[in-house]
Amino acid sequence: MIASYSRIFTALCALASTAAAVTPLKVDGKDFVNSDTGDRFQIIGIDYQPGGQSGFSTKKDPLSDPDTCLRDAALMQRLGINTIRVYNLEPSLNHDKCVSYFNGAGIYIILDVNSPLDNGSLNRGEPWTSYNPVYFQQVFGIIEAFKSYPNVLGFFAGNEVINEDAEYLVPAYVRAVIRDMKDYIAKHSNRTIPVGYSAADVRNILMDTDRYFECHMKNSTSSQADFFGLNSYSWCGKASYKSSGYNVLTEDFSNSTMPVFFSEYGCNEVKPRVFTEVQAIYGEEMTQAFSGGLVYEWTEEDNEYGLIQVNKNGSVTLLVDYENLQGQFGKLDMDRIQSSNSSQTSVTREECSADLITSKKFLNAWNLPTRLTKINNYIENGLPNKPSGSLVSVSSTSIPVKVYGSDGNEISDIKYKVLADGQVNKPSSTGTSSSSSSSSDSSASGTSTSSSSTGTSTSTNAASMNGASSVLVGGVSGFFMLLASLM
Ligand SMILES: *[C@@H]1O[C@H](CO)[C@@H](O)[C@H](O)[C@H]1NC(C)=O
Ligand SMILES: *[C@@H]1O[C@H](CO)[C@@H](O)[C@H](O)[C@H]1NC(C)=O
Ligand SMILES: *[C@@H]1O[C@H](CO)[C@@H](O)[C@H](O)[C@H]1NC(C)=O
Ligand SMILES: *[C@@H]1O[C@H](CO)[C@@H](O)[C@H](O)[C@H]1NC(C)=O
Ligand SMILES: *[C@@H]1O[C@H](CO)[C@@H](O)[C@H](O)[C@H]1NC(C)=O
Ligand SMILES: *[C@@H]1O[C@H](CO)[C@@H](O)[C@H](O)[C@H]1NC(C)=O
Repeated sequence: MIASYSRIFTALCALASTAAAVTPLKVDGKDFVNSDTGDRFQIIGIDYQPGGQSGFSTKKDPLSDPDTCLRDAALMQRLGINTIRVYNLEPSLNHDKCVSYFNGAGIYIILDVNSPLDNGSLNRGEPWTSYNPVYFQQVFGIIEAFKSYPNVLGFFAGNEVINEDAEYLVPAYVRAVIRDMKDYIAKHSNRTIPVGYSAADVRNILMDTDRYFECHMKNSTSSQADFFGLNSYSWCGKASYKSSGYNVLTEDFSNSTMPVFFSEYGCNEVKPRVFTEVQAIYGEEMTQAFSGGLVYEWTEEDNEYGLIQVNKNGSVTLLVDYENLQGQFGKLDMDRIQSSNSSQTSVTREECSADLITSKKFLNAWNLPTRLTKINNYIENGLPNKPSGSLVSVSSTSIPVKVYGSDGNEISDIKYKVLADGQVNKPSSTGTSSSSSSSSDSSASGTSTSSSSTGTSTSTNAASMNGASSVLVGGVSGFFMLLASLM
């Protein structure tokens, strides 16, 4: 009897660990912070777009294939990242397993709400034609499909919509999309999920773009962006803080009143990439202006920005870039990166006014387009036939493919590890293991004392968290099934 109780406790521990979830983040002043601990959160991330834009269709998107996500979550854990950005998603597909794998690995996700399909994004040439209810089925569909996952860090309302070719009024339309998304979230989500914009690095309008979305409007408080992403490739090879122009960016964004981060970085003009910019981005000079960044991109595609190569036979080769990046992440001082700073969080937004805009070619008025009745109905009543998502239980496991290092030798010790509740993945200075937690290894035999204490704390935290209740249910019913099989 005793033996079988201890087996049950061990099993409970393993199952309970599958209910673990990262803690939702929130925006506080110019920082992202952990809503539970108050620690600052800086993005140590990767842009995730396997297969490029052609890897997307209404039948398949980057978060719809669980085996690929399991493989990538394990390899990303090892690399030491805490966030991925995913560009093109289809609301009607099932994303539960993929999102649960990343969540279990302690990895957040930032999602673009747009798609490359017809009516899937704003048209920068004629924004008024694309600001329509069909477009908002995509936008609100993404919100519905992902709002219940605790590891959704935020949504991008647009990516590089504003550039030199964009119609003069485009900024007002993007700000209207931000407004509509935030109003939708306020009405239909249990949690405030931040909404931001990802900008192209067009220096002569970069700060105008930032200020246009950042400023406060008394007559439309929800239309201000919650964060600002910058796609910038100005640091190539062994550039320096000055030669890359990072010093100018830091100065420019030093007075920002919302979190700013690199939504893409990693110039590949010099190969292999050495990623020396990592020490600058997370170094003392830049961290008060920036909240980290995302390296472009995970898989090797035609444009040669990949960190891993997916081989024809399904195996994976880690490229030298992966190893170099892992080495750079391993040198980061995580205690400093996570330390909160009250002068960062106590900032106030300026009122919108034409003086904020410096370029004559940039829109300097904030009369936003009014919402069409049908879009308003979606916001009032929720999207009809809306998709939904919720975490499912996942457990620590080995991954289904062979992995080779850049030298061609097989790396056999790669495992997907479910972290304990509230844990975030982080870089490791040894480069082989990335987690600060070992309590969740399902193969551990553990005594009944440590098992039950882990089980208790896990379920308590999970139960107190919005959005995690279904996972807990999954874990508990799984426990009863297992209990039945043991009896
Ligand atoms: C795109 O939206 C417009 C305007 O609502 C509509 O006329 C058109 O049929 C839509 N196209 C598709 C493929 O849904
Ligand atoms: C909010 O959470 C509660 C309890 O978990 C749930 O019943 C409700 O449906 C949720 N509401 C939304 C809008 O997701
Ligand atoms: C930031 O604010 C300080 C103090 O108000 C000001 O002196 C400085 O010029 C500002 N920097 C930028 C780039 O706007
Ligand atoms: C706290 O933030 C302020 C303003 O961003 C910055 O000047 C200061 O150096 C930071 N302090 C620490 C200890 O990082
Ligand atoms: C698969 O392809 C890779 C790269 O071409 C090769 O190194 C490996 O030996 C192949 N076979 C297996 C089983 O991974
Ligand atoms: C709202 O305020 C902005 C500036 O703060 C102004 O440009 C805009 O015309 C106002 N809109 C309405 C409908 O009053």
